[in-house]
Parts: sequence; C-alpha cells; structure tokens
Amino acid sequence: MSAISLQGITKRYPDHVAVDRLDLDVQAGEFMVLVGPSGCGKSTTLRMIAGLEDISEGRLLIGGRDVTHAEPHERDIAMVFQSYALYPHMTVYMNMAFGLLRTSKLSRDEVDQRVQEAARRLQITELLQRRPNELSGGQRQRVAIGRALVRKPKVFLFDEPLSNLDAKLRTHMRGELERLHAELGITIVYVTHDQVEAMTLGTRIAVMDKGHLRQVGAPMDVYRHPANRFVASFIGSPEMNFLPVPDSMASGRAWLSDHYGNAALQPDTVLGLRPEELTLSRMAGASALSWSGVVQRVERLGAEAYAQIRVGNADVLVRTEADASLEIHQPIVLTPALSRLRVFDGPSGALLAAQG
Ligand SMILES: Nc1ncnc2c1ncn2[C@@H]1O[C@H](COP(=O)(O)OP(=O)(O)O)[C@@H](O)[C@H]1O
Ligand SMILES: [Mg+2]
Repeated sequence: MSAISLQGITKRYPDHVAVDRLDLDVQAGEFMVLVGPSGCGKSTTLRMIAGLEDISEGRLLIGGRDVTHAEPHERDIAMVFQSYALYPHMTVYMNMAFGLLRTSKLSRDEVDQRVQEAARRLQITELLQRRPNELSGGQRQRVAIGRALVRKPKVFLFDEPLSNLDAKLRTHMRGELERLHAELGITIVYVTHDQVEAMTLGTRIAVMDKGHLRQVGAPMDVYRHPANRFVASFIGSPEMNFLPVPDSMASGRAWLSDHYGNAALQPDTVLGLRPEELTLSRMAGASALSWSGVVQRVERLGAEAYAQIRVGNADVLVRTEADASLEIHQPIVLTPALSRLRVFDGPSGALLAAQG
C-alpha cells in the first residue's frame, strides 16, 4: 500500500487550473521530490496533500484512507515551509513542544522525551533555551524540522525548505535531510524548483510543468530517458543541447532516416544530446552522424571545461578536458554518442524515438 495516492487531483481557481488531473503514488519510506519551474503547481499540490487547500476534483488517500475532505489535523502529516514560521517570543524548546502540548494527549514527560530526542538528532540540544532571533538560518531550519519530527507523523511535507539558505549551508542541509530520511525511514514529499536539489535528494522525482505531471522516475532514469523536451531541458545542468538535423546526407541524414524514418528528418525535428554525450575533433571521422561548428567560447572550470560551439544558428555546449587545446573561431566537428541520441518532435516537444 502506498503512503500517499493522488488520483486525478485537480485544483481549479476561478480563472485558471493550477493543478490538472495529477496521478501520483508515493510509496512508504520514499523521498519523493516534486520539481518544476515557479508557478507550475508544486506548492498547490503539497497544500492539497496537507489539507490547507481544497481539492477541486479527484481523490487523495493517505495510508490507504480517503482523506480528500479530511481536516489537516486528521491526516497525520507534518509540513515544513520555506519561511520557518517559528514563534519569535518562544524558546527553541517551546517552539518544538508547543504544538504537542496543545493538541496531543501526551504527558509533559513524553513531550519532553520527544523534544530531547529530536534535538539530539538535529544537533540543536545546546540551542534549546535560545530564541529564534539568536539563531542562524540553518539553525532555524533545524528547529522547524524538529517541530515536525516531534509529532512523529506518517508523512513529512517540505516546501522549498532550503531556498533561504546560502549555497554552502544548502549543500550541508541536503546531507542532513538525507541522513534523517535514511535513519528514520520516513516518507517525504519535498517541493523544489531546483533540479540539482531534486536530483540529489529524491529516490524518485516528479517533474511538473503548467499544472501537469510530465514524468515520474528515479533521478538518473529521468536524466537519461526524459519523456519529452520539457523534462529534457529542465533536468540537468548545464542543459541538454537541442541540435538541428544535419543538412547533408554524409553528415547523418541518411543514418537518421535509416534508424528513425522520416519523422527524424522533418525541418523542425530536434536531436537531444547532453554536453557529456558529444565529443570534439578537428576533422570529420567515421561517425555516421556529425555536425560542423565553430568554437565560440571555452569555460575552464578546473576539473573540466565547457566549449560553446556555434552550429548553424544554435549554440551547443560540449564538456571537454580542462586542458583541451581549443581556440576561439576554430572550426570543429561534433560527434555524438549515438547510443544516447534522442529525437524530439519540433512543435510538440514529444519524444519520437531514443536509443538505449
Ligand atoms: N489562491 C490562489 N488564487 C489564484 N491562483 C493561485 C492561488 N495560489 C496559487 N495560484 C496560482 O496557481 C499556480 C500554481 O501556483 P503554485 O502552486 O504556488 O506554484 P509553485 O509552487 O510551483 O511555484 C500559479 O499560477 C499561481 O499563480
Ligand atoms: Mg511554491
């Protein structure tokens, strides 16, 4: 039985549909990340799971129970927001204990035990008597997580919990969240617009766009086998390249036609290849498919470099060795890892075919 089952969940506002017939099953113990650009409906989806937003259509099950119309407190979930919403006048201890003391039947001792245990896990025991304004951003975030932890819910919901932290702390907190998930075996639904966060944290990721779910899968599966052009360009940094169909038979039209038929030869068909799936050479070799281009820029990052190559009127990014000898304006040939080629329909962005 899945921990959460969203069945045709829709959120309709008077003037538009924010979430459109979303189907998604989250397994118990899973770390599910909802990812997509700003405004695509992630928070609305999470808030419907939490019961903070009415569900216009569809059914929501948590632990097999229909909670479509249940009150938030009947759902056995806890939510951690981007703005931590700590009570400024209360100590860290009381911020964590307050909800339990007020709404649960636990004794003071039991509440104390839970707070102490959560504080130990989150390494904030020394901070229990401080107030929120005496804490750093990362410490406040931990308190917010601690407040959810003490409730021992079935499911944790996180809405962009790390986006107020600086880059270094964000990386650190990602590690902490991973550890908590592994140690406690909890079920998490986590919202972020940051695809790196999604890739690194999720056991599976659900990619949303304009209120629609575009693909669900393990991060590397989605990275390697995107279902459409939207997912292909949203997941991965630097972005996937979208190359035109080569213009001569010798450079690949014949091969494309053989392998993928006429669909791969339409004027607006695009071929998707990631920067690490292309190699550069000075002269055309024996590859069945290649493009000629001109070096525009080389960005050397230390361990590796990215060369920006002009191909027709497209810019293509290719990952190379940091010490590759490349000169600006130099003509160059790009050859793909044929086993990674993806063919997308121009107008719709649908995946027409892919190898591997
Ligand atoms: N209370 C509301 N009334 C009308 N439209 C809303 C409301 N809340 C959110 N929206 C709209 O719903 C869409 C999805 O919003 P949201 O779920 O917050 O996106 P995300 O979290 O992915 O950035 C957006 O177009 C947003 O403007
Ligand atoms: Mg949001």
